Amino acid sequence: MLDLGLMPLANDFTEPGGEQAGYAPLRLMFCPRCTLAQLSVVVNPRILYSKYPYVTSHSATMLAHFKTLRDDLSKQCLGRSVVEIGSNDGTLLDYLSQNGFTTVLGVEPAANLCDLASKKGIATINEFFNPASAVHVIQELGGTPDLVIARHVFCHIDDWADTIGALTMICGKNTLVAVEVPYFPDTIRNGEWDQVYHEHLSYMTTEAMKAALTCSCLHISKVAHYPIHGGAIVMLLRRNDCGIEPDPLPPEKVTLEDLKAFAKQAAAQLTNLSKTVRDLVAQGKTVVGYGASAKATQWIKSCGFTRKEIRWVCDNTITKIYKHMPGTLIPVVDDGALTRELPDYAVCFAWNFATEIIAKEAIFKAKGGKWIIPVPEVKIV
Ligand code: TYD
Repeated sequence: MLDLGLMPLANDFTEPGGEQAGYAPLRLMFCPRCTLAQLSVVVNPRILYSKYPYVTSHSATMLAHFKTLRDDLSKQCLGRSVVEIGSNDGTLLDYLSQNGFTTVLGVEPAANLCDLASKKGIATINEFFNPASAVHVIQELGGTPDLVIARHVFCHIDDWADTIGALTMICGKNTLVAVEVPYFPDTIRNGEWDQVYHEHLSYMTTEAMKAALTCSCLHISKVAHYPIHGGAIVMLLRRNDCGIEPDPLPPEKVTLEDLKAFAKQAAAQLTNLSKTVRDLVAQGKTVVGYGASAKATQWIKSCGFTRKEIRWVCDNTITKIYKHMPGTLIPVVDDGALTRELPDYAVCFAWNFATEIIAKEAIFKAKGGKWIIPVPEVKIV
């Protein structure tokens, strides 16, 4: 449905002179039968995740989401032990351990992130989540957990049967599994084409999850919607023998026509940003990027921007700073650069945190700086 051509890996930040992991085709396919959209190729997860620069955001927006999530999950799950799959640097588990959960355990394939988690005192198994590491989870906990959380990890997994099999291994009769995913109907509705990158192998609907669970002992018990990351759902899964009546699934319809409109909108958004930035540069204005998100790579590469158009991209993530944006020579600098250098325009590539970022960067605005927000439509504010 959407062909973005050959693209670099969205989080492949390279040091000056460093070697890139490579390029791969980026094409989105759609199954009208189960409404799952998937990429046409799978990049080896060891290349993507063994040393991963993405660190869970410590922003106010994210902390507010963690609080809501904890409150909502605590209503559904009375137990106090929690396992997080794809626990990143342990930020969420750290929060939960300080807010009512007595036993926390992470499973995370990136060694650099496990080190960060262990500095916070969060026990983490440094493995991909699969039947082998599921055994380690049970051994570590001495039983099954009360709660399993998998935030924004399911869409990164190729072999769902393997993952669902591993999930069923660690699920007791009363275990609650919370799977948070970007919600594909929101992605389409809001023109969030930049969510399409090699790490996101699949684009979720409840219909697709229902189909994936058909042959397992799990089912979707409830679904809740949240505004985080441009629109996400948390699907609460339970074992079929849990004795709790599931809620009816929310009405949902994703059609081929929706996908066609999405692809058309993506092309228009790309043309708009490309033209807006190039026109400004031609007028002698300076344009930079804010937020070296995976989404930033998608915009920059698809618009063909170089240092001539986007001077630098600033970000507050230590592992990204002083590197190059994937597939380019555009440097990533610290976020203080915005007030130090006061460019004329900043493209907010972390548009999912735009409200917070614009409020925080008040000096830039006060000095006449303008924001370009690329989603849902390119606009200057
Ligand atoms: P995010 O939207 O979480 O990620 P992705 O598209 O990679 O999945 O990334 C937001 C990026 O923006 C992340 O690299 C951190 C950065 N950021 C800042 O630099 N300052 C901020 O205030 C916030 C909220 C994010």
